[in-house]
Amino acid sequence: MPQTIGIPKETFAGEKRVATVPEVVSKLIKLGFAVIVESGAGNYASFFDDAYAEAGARIAPDATVLWSSSDIVFKVRAPEMSEVALMKTGQTLISFIWPAENPDLMKALAAKKVTVLAMDCVPRLLSRAQKMDALTSMAGIGGYRAVIEAANAFGRYFNGQITAAGKIAPAKVFIAGAGVAGLAAVGTAAGLGAIVRANDTRAEVADQVKSLGGEFVKVDYEEEGSGGGGYAKVMSEGFQKAQREMYAKQAKDVDIIITTALIPGKPAPRLITAEMVASMKPGSVVVDMAAERGGNCELTEPDKAVAKHGVTIIGYTDLASRLAKQSSTLYATNQLRLTEELCKAKDGQIVVNMEDDAIRGFTVIKDGEITWPPPPLKLPAPPAPKAAAPAPKAEEKKKGFGVGTAITFLVGAGLFALIGAYAPAAFLGHFTVFVLAIFVGYMVVWNVTPALHTPLMSVTNAISSIITIGALLQVAPPFVPGRPDDLIRWIAVVGIALTSINMFGGFAVTRRMLLMFHK
Ligand code: NAI
Repeated sequence: MPQTIGIPKETFAGEKRVATVPEVVSKLIKLGFAVIVESGAGNYASFFDDAYAEAGARIAPDATVLWSSSDIVFKVRAPEMSEVALMKTGQTLISFIWPAENPDLMKALAAKKVTVLAMDCVPRLLSRAQKMDALTSMAGIGGYRAVIEAANAFGRYFNGQITAAGKIAPAKVFIAGAGVAGLAAVGTAAGLGAIVRANDTRAEVADQVKSLGGEFVKVDYEEEGSGGGGYAKVMSEGFQKAQREMYAKQAKDVDIIITTALIPGKPAPRLITAEMVASMKPGSVVVDMAAERGGNCELTEPDKAVAKHGVTIIGYTDLASRLAKQSSTLYATNQLRLTEELCKAKDGQIVVNMEDDAIRGFTVIKDGEITWPPPPLKLPAPPAPKAAAPAPKAEEKKKGFGVGTAITFLVGAGLFALIGAYAPAAFLGHFTVFVLAIFVGYMVVWNVTPALHTPLMSVTNAISSIITIGALLQVAPPFVPGRPDDLIRWIAVVGIALTSINMFGGFAVTRRMLLMFHK
């Protein structure tokens, strides 16, 4: 008997997302599952009952039928107590849970003897788990939507324009915290034509900010901000003071501030003070994405857009839900990837294998037993710095210059002596140049570091042109077979053929390198 996956309508007020979409329903059915969807579950995300039915799902008339007919329930928001009451022993729930913040919910779920997989506990550090990482998908959408909300509240264009009526300066946007949401905001605001600046305590994100079209603004204080694993740490008093000064300067200059600063497990750092807001130009906008965790701005009111000191401060906590179709599609794909991990046999049965690091990481309750927090991940240790190689001993050096090398040198010297004794004088001059050229060429090519191979290629191409000119001079006279300098001509022909490889190869490689920069 295949297990049934149920998709209830979200009960949290204002939540527009739905846990799965019709496109994913057909993929779940291909994995062997049956799917049942509560009538109207996807309405707010523009996925209607007939689309689910067409994809192969059954439609349940209400939540009671849905929960009682499902072996596995996919949800977005953590269940409310009224939903927990509908659960049955042995059921599996896959949804956001936030176990640290919801101990009562965890106890109620455990009492129901169910298994709970928390989407917010997917171990982001495992590269295998990244395809299931709904937090990243939602933060990316949130960052995009934060810019759109800001643009909506801001009374001007984002991009600069020159019109018949005069010049319009581009808007200036400052983004505090350049993690997933912050980087999405940088890209979106830059795409709309604004001048974008961003700051983060982790200096390593500077290049990512630049690559998305923003400018990274450094705090004038030397301190490493990385707390490991791509997350920040709480900074020293000295750093925070220098950061406040820099933020105060930015607040006076920019039109829009979007804050996304977060340190996991800690309240949101207070970065934008009331004075900074008061110093902003009238009509400016602050979007505080951290509103749910206490806010990065002192004046934020969660879930509201308020006007203070002539500045609009937006503290919406449902930014991803405001793009319900997009966020439901990405969330459904994250859950599909997770289901594939749980159902490797594609037989419509999930196996919660606690030996698997990724699955163990997000299993917060197993058959009624609370298994959160999971043991620390066993990540592969970073490669240990190589111990300095012991200095080669004098004897080993002697061993390197062995009998074989001595014989080669002797044979070489003998050959040179013979050539010197018997070859014509004109040949000897050319031969000396030839031997020296080989030596210099060898030294030049083999001693160049790989990073400099591109300029080296240009040099060898230039040398090739010189060789070709010489070779062309040799083949230039009318080619009559049997003439005494025939051999030289053939050598020149071979020379032209070989240097052509270098020259045309150079063109081909350059073209391929240029193509890498094409959008
Ligand atoms: P993330 O962990 O990827 O990024 C947070 C960034 O803040 C990190 O790069 C960190 O280095 C930086 N940071 C920490 N302390 C800082 C400080 N004092 N100064 C400057 N930078 C600092 O987190 P993610 O996924 O980007 O989420 C960001 C925030 O957005 C979270 O609070 C999250 O809950 C929230 N969020 C809100 C949504 C909404 O609807 N309002 C939707 C999605 C996410």
